[in-house]
Amino acid sequence: MDPPPSRFLLLILLSSVVFAATVVAAASEDSDDLLIRQVVPESNLDDLILNADHHFTSFVKKFGKTYADTEEHAYRLSVFKSNLRRAKRHQKLDPSAVHGITKFSDLTPSEFRRSYLGLRRLKLPADAQKAPILPTNDLPTDFDWRDHGAVTGVKDQGSCGSCWSFSTTGALEGANFLSTGNLVSLSEQQLVDCDHVCDPESPGSCDSGCNGGLMTSAFEYTLQAGGLQREEDYPYTGTDRGPCKFDKTKIAASVSNFSVVSLDEEQIAANLVKNGPLAVGINAAWMQTYIGGVSCPYICSKRLDHGVLLVGYGAEGYAPIRLKDKPYWIIKNSWGESWGENGYYKICRGHNVCGVDSMVSSVAAIHTTPTTP
Ligand SMILES: *[C@@H]1O[C@H](CO)[C@@H](O)[C@H](O)[C@H]1NC(C)=O
Repeated sequence: MDPPPSRFLLLILLSSVVFAATVVAAASEDSDDLLIRQVVPESNLDDLILNADHHFTSFVKKFGKTYADTEEHAYRLSVFKSNLRRAKRHQKLDPSAVHGITKFSDLTPSEFRRSYLGLRRLKLPADAQKAPILPTNDLPTDFDWRDHGAVTGVKDQGSCGSCWSFSTTGALEGANFLSTGNLVSLSEQQLVDCDHVCDPESPGSCDSGCNGGLMTSAFEYTLQAGGLQREEDYPYTGTDRGPCKFDKTKIAASVSNFSVVSLDEEQIAANLVKNGPLAVGINAAWMQTYIGGVSCPYICSKRLDHGVLLVGYGAEGYAPIRLKDKPYWIIKNSWGESWGENGYYKICRGHNVCGVDSMVSSVAAIHTTPTTP
């Protein structure tokens, strides 16, 4: 049966209203798009791709790259080009960050994973002590441990999968600062050389120098060993071929206890503010092309492959297209100051983006009087 003409008309009217709304929505998406282009001119990335040969030459110069022969040079240029296309894709899918050429632009994603990450396990051990639930009502809206003197300068793990050791020292440096009032840079090399603690849940997964490790295992090692030496007393070499040279008489910071923080973002923030910087795992896929801004990719694996240090959170300077009211985490990385925002990374909060909330641990330090040399 045909609908009566008046109802039929109504239907047409209604569908044109729906259609008009769709057009308006599309238009506002377009204007968002325009906004994105203003923030990050896409032509910039197009120019990079178009003039890749030229940009590769400056890249080689800027980062002091050397290649064995012309064949290697040609291969690296091809990897560089494919990373430029990848950066362009990243830019489209992560509009609130800036992606482009980084010092890792001549590495394939798998080379990058192999040499610059190094988180050994995807999950925290289930038997780890759980952090007590803290009140969250009085949390500051912005917080950054760098402003309170609890964070040492950005370090560089080099091409060694020892991220876990930097995440560990960073957390203990902060905890030690809170318990002693002194900020002392601690030794990653001690962890790389001496810590072979295995995860009780999967015995095959032990801390193993440049081949990866886990922060909670490293806290366990530090607890058992008595503590960590200063960076300057046991300096970083970026290789794991040396023997353990730990000197018990030169301990500069000791672990009193450590715990795993719940997945709840408010709890993570509360633990950060109360206990100091936190050791966190993250998926680093978007970090290879990251230059700055707040990374908030539309899609990101939660498979954790990198250990970093959560030092703060905020919302300042973030004018996102999406998640308007959502602030970001401030993350200290261990790829030197020439990467990211002077060595730091910002990632949006609220959605466990890239698994950033999945593996968070907190450490407390014993008050010790460092031995004077
Ligand atoms: C260390 O232990 C104390 C006392 O049990 C507890 O209040 C604190 O939350 C623990 N800290 C960490 C980082 O686990």
